[in-house]
Amino acid sequence: MQALPNWFPQQPPLYDVTKSCAENATNGPFFIGEIPERPKTRGMHAKLFEFDLFSPIGIPAGPLFNAKWIALASKLGFDVLTYKTIRSFSHPGHQHPNILFVEPTSQNLAHTISAPDQLDRLTITNSFGMPSRSPDFLLEDIDRANRCLPKGQLLIVSVVGSTHQGISVRDDFVRAAQIARAAGAKVIEANFSCPNVGAEGLLYNHPEAVYDFARALVSAIHPIPLVLKMGLFSHRETMRASFLAAARAGARAICGINTVSMRIVDAQGLPALGPSRPTSGVCGAAIRADALQFLHDAHEILHKEKLDLTLIGCGGIVRAGQFDEFLSAGAQIAMSATGMMWDPLLALRYHWEKVHASPHPAAL
Ligand SMILES: Cc1cc2nc3c(=O)[nH]c(=O)nc-3n(C[C@H](O)[C@H](O)[C@H](O)COP(=O)(O)O)c2cc1C
Repeated sequence: MQALPNWFPQQPPLYDVTKSCAENATNGPFFIGEIPERPKTRGMHAKLFEFDLFSPIGIPAGPLFNAKWIALASKLGFDVLTYKTIRSFSHPGHQHPNILFVEPTSQNLAHTISAPDQLDRLTITNSFGMPSRSPDFLLEDIDRANRCLPKGQLLIVSVVGSTHQGISVRDDFVRAAQIARAAGAKVIEANFSCPNVGAEGLLYNHPEAVYDFARALVSAIHPIPLVLKMGLFSHRETMRASFLAAARAGARAICGINTVSMRIVDAQGLPALGPSRPTSGVCGAAIRADALQFLHDAHEILHKEKLDLTLIGCGGIVRAGQFDEFLSAGAQIAMSATGMMWDPLLALRYHWEKVHASPHPAAL
């Protein structure tokens, strides 16, 4: 038997919440020690579009700030890696703090806590405001990220648009996607659902806009597959209409869910991120039930409407065994963002379980 690596909790989180986003991007990821050897499996065990993959697990847009983060995630056994959402122009994003530990106390309200006492309660709010490096940096860095992946792993580049220099949100989405394309992106994801920005964060809830924006993106990047990142829907009929619009526009996949917008308050009941950011997206363990429900509903709609859209699932996976819950619920690929930041060995545990048919003995 392979020697047991010294896994969580000896490993610190990859992201240091006490530091700024820029410091984390530049000096992180904060992984220490040797990377445990990936349990050996032969061949490819999953597929996304025309790409064969070692496994169906990955990381959604967020924790992978640049090629350095992607190189580590690749070695840690994540096989579908999403480059954090880029813009068509350099943008600083929100100020520190960007991540707080929280505990939701109702559907729309979460209180900050010092730190969760166990991984199963790992829930955060993240408020970055989608910072982005310059197009010149991105052209080089996305290429670097692509080149560090072996066959069997795939990079998705997430993009967003906003009103900028008199350009419409839709045209700016296209500009960001063209940067991703020029950098060599094999798959592009359009972020239609960031709750931490303005109106562009709500696009997924407007089927006409989904069609209009997705259509423009599909024709600009053809034949590169387009994934649409969506959030929780408050009405199933809107979800159905939005998926119909996505398919009609030629999108190839839906990725969901994005973070769930909540009011974030401190112990005094005041906005924990300051008065200018009363609400923010919540992710991690507390949103897993919602993410699974989203997948069940999405799967049912796609089946009923006979839509040729692939599902990529994320939201609340913090334990290795939970990837399979998402795959069973209809996702072709299952991803973890918050979970992998606090347990970087999550994918290796998953691969271990597949090979040994039992949880890794060091798993807590
Ligand atoms: C630190 C962090 C940054 C994120 N940034 C983005 C982003 O830039 N674009 C995006 O579409 N989603 C972003 N997300 C949302 C994730 O892609 C994902 O939808 C959400 O976190 C739910 O998954 P999780 O519970 O595994 O974290 C971010 C999430 C985290 C944790």
